[in-house]
Amino acid sequence: MEQSVRVITIDGPAASGKGTVAERIAHELGFHYLDSGALYRLATYRALKLGTPLDDAEALERVASSMAPVFEQGRILLDGEDVTLRIRTEEVSRATSRVAAVPGVRKALFDLQRRAAKAPGLVADGRDMGTVVFPEADLKIFLTASARVRAERRALQLEARGETADREALTRDLEERDRRDRERAEAPLKPAPDAKLLDTSSLGIEEVVKKLLDWWDEAR
Ligand code: DC
Repeated sequence: MEQSVRVITIDGPAASGKGTVAERIAHELGFHYLDSGALYRLATYRALKLGTPLDDAEALERVASSMAPVFEQGRILLDGEDVTLRIRTEEVSRATSRVAAVPGVRKALFDLQRRAAKAPGLVADGRDMGTVVFPEADLKIFLTASARVRAERRALQLEARGETADREALTRDLEERDRRDRERAEAPLKPAPDAKLLDTSSLGIEEVVKKLLDWWDEAR
C-alpha cells in the first residue's frame, strides 16, 4: 500500500451502524469505502447458489477465490446477476457467519480488501479491519450497541424494504451470529488494542459521524 494512503477502520458487531457511518465518513472525507462484509456475503451467496456444502472448507475457498464481483454505482453484480439486495437477506446473513469462519475463505478475500486502499484514503468496515486487514490504519474505531437496539435497527431496515420483521427472532439471530463471529479461531470480532470504542445504543447517526470526524481531526 502506498505510504500516502490514509486508512480508517470501523469494526463492530452486526447492525451496530458501521455501514451507514462508514459510508458517511468516506463521503465527508472524499475517501473510498470498503464494505468487507459484502465480500463475505457475496462468497456465501455464490456458494448457496452453486449448492456448495457449507461444511466443505476447500470448496468454499475455491468459490471465494474465483469470484469477480463488479461494484457499480451502489449496485453489486456477481456472475452477471444484480445481487445488491439478494446478499442482504436473513438467510444469507445467517449462512455468512458460518462461511466467514473458514480460514481459506478469509485468506481468499484478504488481497481483494487490501487492494481497496487507494489514494487519498479508505474507510473500511467489518469485523477484523483494525486487527488483521489494516493493522497499520491511522484511526481504528470499534462500534457497539445493545442487541435489542441493533435488532430494532435491522427490523426498521427490513421494513423499509417492504419485508416483515420479527424482533424477537432478529435479536436471537444477532446474538447467535455475534457469538460465532467472536468465538471463531481465525480473525475473531474484537477491538484492536489501539481502537477507540463507542457505544452507539443511545446515539443517532449524526452524533456518531460527528464523534468519528472529531477523532479523525485529532488523529491527523
Ligand atoms: O457486516 P455484515 O453484517 O455485512 O457481515 C456479514 C458477516 O460477515 C458477519 O457474520 C461477519 C462476517 N464478516 C467477517 O467475518 N469479517 C469481516 N471483515 C466482515 C464481515
